[in-house]
Amino acid sequence: MTQQEIEQRIEALGPWFYPFDFGGGVHTTSNVPPHVTDIFETRRLMVDAVVTAHFAERLKQIRCLDIGCHEGFYSFAMAQLGVERITGFDVREANLNKARFAAERLGHPAITFQQGNIEDLDPASLGSHELVLFLGVLYHLENPMRALRNLAAITSELCVIETQVIDEVEGEVEWGAREWTRPYQGVLALIDEGDEFYADNTETGHSPVATCPSPKGLTFMLKQAGFQRVEFLDPPQGAYEQHARRKRVVCAAYK
Ligand SMILES: C[S@@+](CC[C@H](N)C(=O)[O-])C[C@H]1O[C@@H](n2cnc3c(N)ncnc32)[C@H](O)[C@@H]1O
Repeated sequence: MTQQEIEQRIEALGPWFYPFDFGGGVHTTSNVPPHVTDIFETRRLMVDAVVTAHFAERLKQIRCLDIGCHEGFYSFAMAQLGVERITGFDVREANLNKARFAAERLGHPAITFQQGNIEDLDPASLGSHELVLFLGVLYHLENPMRALRNLAAITSELCVIETQVIDEVEGEVEWGAREWTRPYQGVLALIDEGDEFYADNTETGHSPVATCPSPKGLTFMLKQAGFQRVEFLDPPQGAYEQHARRKRVVCAAYK
């Protein structure tokens, strides 16, 4: 493709979420406001650190599935770490078309991309992967528990989850009689994402109903889904402000 053809294709596929540099002065321009774009690098640093620490010299042998891969940004980050077998998965074909184009331009022809809904699939159709990424997706979902059960079914070692969280809510609910109570295991907030959803925002879930967990709720759901150990990662120095304040978290869930 000539430079002009590449630029025309970028224009036709846009708008773009990530700022990709395709070399030779050709790049995409992110539609994310400038004060938010640090989020990309903070997540990359946190994901790279936990993946490298866990797999070390095995990185070349593992299979990685990037659920909610969007334009492939973190699939490409895993390729840069040395992972060779990567599949990006997303509910939106339009996002995957951008990912396929970016993979070609960035020299990652081996990465494959597959359309599907993590809340509504037979996990056997995806197979088992040592590493699963689930970044920026959970808090857009209507059925988070179903999605986490599917994630557990397709993860054989490590799943990295990044999500917005709500402030913890502690309490007890009466359960059949005044004196019979059960403690909350964390909570899920219900969020109306209808304005974004009906405006065709390409980052939402597949319905306008979103749910957002508290940290304890996330831990409880991950363990119920089948993960043995859940660790919340510390944000690095200079992290994006939401991670620094722990309003967004990155956690490692181990099988
Ligand atoms: C906010 S973006 C996050 C993209 C990327 N993982 C990141 O962290 O930058 C959410 C992505 O998840 C996808 N997505 C939303 N609901 C999904 C579902 N139920 N199954 C698969 N992908 C989904 C969206 O299409 C979008 O590409």
